[in-house]
Amino acid sequence: MSPFSQIRNRISQVFGLTERANWNDEVRSAVEGLAEERRWTLEETALRCRQDSSVLLDLAGRLTVGETHFFRHPVHFEEIAKLVQTRLANFSRGAALWSAGCASGEEPYSIAMAIESQLGEPGIRRISITGTDINTGALQKARRAYYSAWSFRGTAPWVISRYFEGDSSRGSHLRDPAVRGSVSFELQGIEQRAAGFPAKSLDVIMFRNVAIYLRADTLARIYAAFRRILTDDGLLFLGPSDPRPTPDLFQPDKAENTILRPTTADVEKHRRFSYPSPKPAPRRQVSELGPTDARSRPSRPKQSHQSKHPPPRAMAIPNVPPVPGATLAEAARKLGDRGELEQALSIANTLIDAEPGSAAAYLLRGQLLLGASRLEGATQDLRRATFLGPDQPLTRYWYATALHGGGSHRATVAQLQETKRLLEDRSPNSLLEDGETPVSELLGAVMLMLETLV
Ligand SMILES: C[S@@+](CC[C@H](N)C(=O)[O-])C[C@H]1O[C@@H](n2cnc3c(N)ncnc32)[C@H](O)[C@@H]1O
Repeated sequence: MSPFSQIRNRISQVFGLTERANWNDEVRSAVEGLAEERRWTLEETALRCRQDSSVLLDLAGRLTVGETHFFRHPVHFEEIAKLVQTRLANFSRGAALWSAGCASGEEPYSIAMAIESQLGEPGIRRISITGTDINTGALQKARRAYYSAWSFRGTAPWVISRYFEGDSSRGSHLRDPAVRGSVSFELQGIEQRAAGFPAKSLDVIMFRNVAIYLRADTLARIYAAFRRILTDDGLLFLGPSDPRPTPDLFQPDKAENTILRPTTADVEKHRRFSYPSPKPAPRRQVSELGPTDARSRPSRPKQSHQSKHPPPRAMAIPNVPPVPGATLAEAARKLGDRGELEQALSIANTLIDAEPGSAAAYLLRGQLLLGASRLEGATQDLRRATFLGPDQPLTRYWYATALHGGGSHRATVAQLQETKRLLEDRSPNSLLEDGETPVSELLGAVMLMLETLV
């Protein structure tokens, strides 16, 4: 793989940036720009990107879109001020808020100004707002807090006169010390930063106009992490065009669908009971389990003609629509991909019933639950699969992925290290338990995850 392709893939894997039109050109010009600044060759730049996460961050930051302004979507700031007021009135603790993808700081400072204008200095002093981004230049601007007229479009004149000094048509400085003191900035990717917040430690997450730039798999992990770190009565704010999380994690507010509330156990229980319960399916042999689905594998999918497996058989289970030309496991995965989770699970349950000692059957159900961000069930199943097949590296890798989604940092690292140990004993070109993934591919994925976590 060329140094350029290595860097491009790594940026996509670590930060989840999607490949938009002209992506190759944009990445190439960012890589060449950095190489020229640092006087590195392309090979050296690729090596540094692997060895030093700050170099990769620097490059990724050059590829993002930092468009923002003060009080963008004003109703969000009114809601935040209301929520914070209730928090401070009811609890002795303060409130913690995160602006994830804060660009040059207009968003977190708007939160601070909205709160200060409602609750005054004593209120704002009990608040902590973290602004994070991967764009170094944008964060430098945020820390300077000096803004041009473009940042004030749509901002009420009283806000400018109350908090800023200078001439907003040319440039203004945010001077208010209490407002500035409540906001801190950090250079970090969203997924990596989310892993560092304790469970239920945040009252508000603003994640607006960032999701549209991210890959679906990264986004699913980010939303699962948000559910873990947000309090049950906290709020998640999204931009109008951002892809939404699945309803088992968050439900939109009735009046304003860019404001979402965590789905609590009660809501989830109610929702689950509203499904028609599947009739028991006939027992089948777990030997019918097919290969791991390409989409669920950690790396490059293969063409179906490369498969080492016998041609898949058609399935017919009462109460589940047949999926032509698929083994039971493939059928379950296909149904899961189409969002027909209950039916997919009913197949997985049948396979577990048929052979309760099968690691593959638990792996299948765990992967289905993980794909639907049902982390607790996924973790249980993947733990069991790992127990049943302790020497199976792919299975252990998926268990680590579920632990990571649930925020169990130490356990994730321990499982990844064990996966790495299992892989290192094997030849790089040999195939793993799905019969398709080479050892070297999974090892690459494991090393990448370990690097971002350790
Ligand atoms: C369009 S701006 C949105 C700014 C602000 N949230 C708003 O809505 O006005 C998107 C920001 O997200 C940041 N971003 C994109 N991907 C990111 C990632 N994986 N981790 C952290 N920040 C990211 C970009 O650098 C950019 O500054």
